[in-house]
Amino acid sequence: MTVSSYSFGQNLVNKETEKKIDELLSKMTIEEKVGQTVQYSSLWELTGPMPNGESEKVLYEKIVSGKVGSLINITGTEAVRKAQELAINESRLGIPLIFGYDVIHGFKTMFPIPLAEASSFDPEVAKRSAEVAAEEAAAAGLNWTFAPMVDISRDARWGRVMEGAGEDTYLGAKFAYARVKGFQGDDLSSRKTVAATAKHFAAYGFSESGRDYNAVDISHSTLHNVVLPPFKACVDAGVATFMNSFNTIGGEPSTKNSYLQRDLLKGEWEFDGFIVSDWNSIGELQYQGVAGSPAEAAQQAIVAGSDMDMEGNCYSTSLGDLINQKKVNEELLDEAVRRILRVKFALGLFDDPFKYCDAAYEKETVYAEKFRKDALNAALKSIVLLKNEDQILPLNAQLDQVMLTGALAIDKDSPIGNWRAQAIPKSAVSLLEGMKEVQNNLTYVQGPDYVRNDSLTFLSLLDINETDRTGIKEAVKAAKKAKVVVIAMGENCFQSGEARSQSEIGFKGLQLELFEEIYKVNKNIVVVLMNGRPLDLTPIQDKAKAIVETWFLGTESGNAIAQVLYGEYNPSGKLPVSMPRGIGQLPIYYNKTNTGRPTNEDVIFTSRYTDIKSSPLYPFGYGLSYTTYDYKDLKLSSSKMIEEGNLEVSVKVTNTGKVAGEEIVQLYIRDKVASLARPLKELKRFEKITLKPEESKTIKFTLTKEDLAFYTSNNLWETEDGVFDIWVGPHSDEGLHATFEYVSNNVNQ
Ligand code: BGC
Repeated sequence: MTVSSYSFGQNLVNKETEKKIDELLSKMTIEEKVGQTVQYSSLWELTGPMPNGESEKVLYEKIVSGKVGSLINITGTEAVRKAQELAINESRLGIPLIFGYDVIHGFKTMFPIPLAEASSFDPEVAKRSAEVAAEEAAAAGLNWTFAPMVDISRDARWGRVMEGAGEDTYLGAKFAYARVKGFQGDDLSSRKTVAATAKHFAAYGFSESGRDYNAVDISHSTLHNVVLPPFKACVDAGVATFMNSFNTIGGEPSTKNSYLQRDLLKGEWEFDGFIVSDWNSIGELQYQGVAGSPAEAAQQAIVAGSDMDMEGNCYSTSLGDLINQKKVNEELLDEAVRRILRVKFALGLFDDPFKYCDAAYEKETVYAEKFRKDALNAALKSIVLLKNEDQILPLNAQLDQVMLTGALAIDKDSPIGNWRAQAIPKSAVSLLEGMKEVQNNLTYVQGPDYVRNDSLTFLSLLDINETDRTGIKEAVKAAKKAKVVVIAMGENCFQSGEARSQSEIGFKGLQLELFEEIYKVNKNIVVVLMNGRPLDLTPIQDKAKAIVETWFLGTESGNAIAQVLYGEYNPSGKLPVSMPRGIGQLPIYYNKTNTGRPTNEDVIFTSRYTDIKSSPLYPFGYGLSYTTYDYKDLKLSSSKMIEEGNLEVSVKVTNTGKVAGEEIVQLYIRDKVASLARPLKELKRFEKITLKPEESKTIKFTLTKEDLAFYTSNNLWETEDGVFDIWVGPHSDEGLHATFEYVSNNVNQ
């Protein structure tokens, strides 16, 4: 067999390799088999607490004695080669190691954070970003990324909202699929691709009260209808590995959840790659109170189908004994090892274990200039224009006296975002640099510092400046003279990410004070937001004339924002999350089910708040452009959809403004009467179109019965007969409406 016959999207099992795996397994001692299931972190970079410090020497000895299957947090061809040489040349069987790393939104050339890329509503953007990340990572010795994170998230308090595609299952599944394709390409054995990981399996995004690592308690219906489809999309895309999650669901930790791992993923979905635990999630079974010892934890995890132990030291210390004492069936270990070896074969590591270790290729590939245009393109498409009163934007570099302020405007680090792999600190194009390229008479006055510690890292705690007002006066003075004031506001990038949950989602430090002081002297305010989670925008909503959501856009951040501010690029992004009116609305998401007392803000005994509206400040799917679009002529091919048939839906969209633009046309449905309460709206299709001024296009969507199906109490995906609402429009809260009826064969008979 040639390794390239592991074609993308096909399953990893192939007769010839399975034979080779049989042969290998027959030669392996129990200790060597256990070794394959063990993953250690390097000592020089950690992404979690290290349970048992291992000195480098001890780690190397373990590799030589076949006690390690994989390393995490080791990058660069030199370091990888050194470790791989030990495994190949000095261990008894010479089984190659697999090197994993969190390459989430770029390796060194940084792309927008995943939440930002989801705002493009353009899966091709995410695919290309994953391709580049894979190319750089693979050139630097890696062959496995712990991405994509496909957790649905509805609670902005949770810091990891930044890592996923937002609140919607359909959009999430499309991005999940695209990212896996991007990372893995058509050929896992290519030196431009890496194995991907669908994580965190499952429901980690539903951590109670948005606090990281917290328990999850969701319904069977939410699990199947909302949480799982993006994971299934990863399997459909041929993902090589899965990572389980830290959380419990209804008291059952994912790491020992046999239903999820064995019955569903490896059984029903026929996933044939392997499952890695999350960092010490096997060991944490003890803290969760389901295992009394590392041995018990190891036993539960292997029985439930967790194949590899990331830094948990439970498999390494206990699995061998458990098998010798007949407490764990050796076949379970064999199965885990088989799955791990399968991925190593697919990566081509048995043919050439050093193919990811070419130093010259690494030098020419990592941070190559050619990737900049991809990073810029992704950044441009990720920007969402939320407000543009009096058409204050775009700015005119020749006529407008523009003043820029806010500490984030010169911040070259925050736009890189958290989960930054090997990004060079402070290497992003800042907003100031980007705007200066277009307008060199720009005035910049920083205002107060945002954070006190300017050398933050993944491991540091944030120290926000709340007292030093230096710079406010000077900023106000300059604002008086300007025609337009651009204020960069939001978060430092290390406010979001793992372990960065917050009880407040407002503007921290002195940012609002600066905003208010400027507002007193100049009403022409454009706010440029940089943030990793939805923020509470209510304090600035009415006062700012324009609000531009940029998230964290990566290396090319400042250039992309400047192109949008000055109208060189017409923004087209749409929100992948609802923007709340305040923390009290969380969790908030558009696709909620109805209540028996549907919300009516004017009627007291309905599902509402007494102090704020129930609707979000900006709905899911929302985003403006410098032009306007008109939707008309919503047409359905029939008022009935029969079981074998399709429903054709068409709509005419016209650019009614003066500039060309891109619009994301969105189709939503509602199952009006069903056996379970169904969401008020659900995204089922979207398409990005480009329109010149006055140009019209007719967009056609085809729906099938699968689009109408949901996971019912029969534990099946079923489409139920009855009437459906359908909307096509610019976002989840606006659209042309029609209805149709679905009729199954059962009814016809
Ligand atoms: C995170 C994972 C990550 C792993 C390795 C964990 O703390 O939850 O998403 O892949 O660390 O860095």
